[in-house]
Amino acid sequence: MIKVQDVAYVRFGAPDLDVMERFLTDFGLSTALRTADRLYMRGFGPQPFVHVTERIEEPKVLGFGLLAQSLSDLEQLATAHDTAVQDNVEPGGGYHVRLVDPQGLQVDVIWGHAPAPPPASSLRAPLQLNNSGELRRLGGTQRPGDGSSHVMRLGHVVLKVPSLEPSLQFYSENFGLRVADGYFAGTPENRIAAFLRCDLGSEYTDHHTVALIAGGTGFEHCAFEVLDWDDLMAGHHYLHARGHKHSWGIGRHIQGSQVFDYWRDPFGNKIEHWTDGDLINEQYAGGYAPIGPNALAQWAPEMGPDFML
Ligand SMILES: [Fe+2]
Repeated sequence: MIKVQDVAYVRFGAPDLDVMERFLTDFGLSTALRTADRLYMRGFGPQPFVHVTERIEEPKVLGFGLLAQSLSDLEQLATAHDTAVQDNVEPGGGYHVRLVDPQGLQVDVIWGHAPAPPPASSLRAPLQLNNSGELRRLGGTQRPGDGSSHVMRLGHVVLKVPSLEPSLQFYSENFGLRVADGYFAGTPENRIAAFLRCDLGSEYTDHHTVALIAGGTGFEHCAFEVLDWDDLMAGHHYLHARGHKHSWGIGRHIQGSQVFDYWRDPFGNKIEHWTDGDLINEQYAGGYAPIGPNALAQWAPEMGPDFML
């Protein structure tokens, strides 16, 4: 077993790369590389790309990439799965091992890729927010401006899986992912969702990097961290103004605590902006909680039918 350190990118298939590129640009990503049949989009972070679309006839979720910690981890993984470490020919290069998960998604585990140079467009600093107990901004103003959000990185992918246990076993036993929290329906034995964090020991990591939800196949959603609160709000108004389809939000989750805003890309994939999520380590004592009408958010607008599709 190896211990991955983060998620790197999501991989989709779609028939029209122009349509995907326009949406993702409005969503807050920028084009890293465009070829005849691939669209690579990046955020403001160092990953060479965080979203790739392959041109195929029918829209489809294809898989995602995880970050390994060393070349020897890749070698260990390759040996365990009777495959080989291969040169990575996608932006950034390095090496990868390509696996298939229990439901057929392609899981690339990558290491040794070159970080991307800083993006061409500028990025303001995160805002210092005053609150009633702590005044951090004295004599200054707030001028975040409007426009699209600034996506910093891919934060997590949530997979719909036909059955929870085989996927839970696959992701925990191969990549060292550990349950942070989850949900059960009815009785505690009937687990229906698991939020998995990277196992980095005492080092803090996102509350979840991969999550599993029982029922269905493909992604439930993929989620991108934006610069800060105002950046999420500005992007919300911008996506509405650009005519994109909203799914649910803005609200604050319970498990993970993120402030969230869910959208649909033009091919029906649910995609999330989030900010201010929990960071946890080996000390975190989570567990499974009962699912129910108010189990997903502390505050939010009423959940419409789109979110549950
Ligand atoms: Fe999410």
